[in-house]
Amino acid sequence: MDKIQKVETKEDALRLLNIALEHEWAVSFEYTIHAYSMPKGKFFYEDPVMKNRTDVRAQMIQIGIDEMYHSLQLAVIITQMGGVPSFKTDEVMRYPRIMDNLNRDKMTEDLVTNLYQSAKFPEGAFPKIQNMVLNISYDEVRHSNQFAAMMDALKAQGAEDAFCYPSNPENINRQEVQLLHEIMRLENELTHRYLKYVFLFSEHQDLSQRLFKNSIDHMRHWDKNSGTLIKWGDVIQIENAKKDANGVETSKNPMPSVYPGEDRLSVLEALIPAEETLIARYERLISLVPNGEIKDQLKLHLGLNREHLFTQNWLLKNVQKIKGLK
Ligand SMILES: [Fe+2]
Ligand SMILES: [Fe+2]
Ligand SMILES: [Fe+2]
Repeated sequence: MDKIQKVETKEDALRLLNIALEHEWAVSFEYTIHAYSMPKGKFFYEDPVMKNRTDVRAQMIQIGIDEMYHSLQLAVIITQMGGVPSFKTDEVMRYPRIMDNLNRDKMTEDLVTNLYQSAKFPEGAFPKIQNMVLNISYDEVRHSNQFAAMMDALKAQGAEDAFCYPSNPENINRQEVQLLHEIMRLENELTHRYLKYVFLFSEHQDLSQRLFKNSIDHMRHWDKNSGTLIKWGDVIQIENAKKDANGVETSKNPMPSVYPGEDRLSVLEALIPAEETLIARYERLISLVPNGEIKDQLKLHLGLNREHLFTQNWLLKNVQKIKGLK
């Protein structure tokens, strides 16, 4: 992560915001991956602010969602300033031990708190950006304290060596598992792709809210599917990851950095085949899965994607009806 200390010009401000954004994308993804790789309802910590006994996995997902909101705040301001929000990400890692992931997450929080708090603005320059950066930085302070408390709790439980879920090597031959990995990539891609359009149309609240709803649906599916992978003896994959001799995975591009569509028409046109592809994958997967809870869950995802396709088709037709909409 580069560091920007002096924010004097609009270009400095845009650079700071985009560096921060690339960080926020990476961590929102990384924390949820770390959470999806560990057991639910097994490790608890005493939350330093909420004063509640809290599930480590659930709270890590919540922190990941906070980071997604940071991305949203940064990207909307970048767009409003006439800049282009970056979809590149910082490096993402996963260690085999839960403790090492928590330790990395805490160090990341301290690093980014420093990025935000060390930015120096001349008096009176960019007051709203200054305020936003300070507000985000204290969310990061909170996150750092949460990760520290989680690590203390794991140590106190003698769970320092607890491992993440492994991927059963035999799953390479199971069609349904490989198909679900592909669906996970598509769901993640669509979550971020819809977010790009939320920023792009942040001035057009009707369109932007509708697209945001779909982004959240895709995020929920991603979340549910990660649990199905574990039931099938697998775990969420990190795209383009390299694994070293100690089992540590690293990826410099864990998700696409470019998404198609630059105006209303091209965005809406590009979404239709993307939803159709995802629908076809779900239909195929559902045909391979026996009746039961997992199949019912997948059918719910398929149903919502069919609804997305219906909506997108009408959004496109309605744009084409009105002259002067760009
Ligand atoms: Fe953040
Ligand atoms: Fe954070
Ligand atoms: Fe969809």
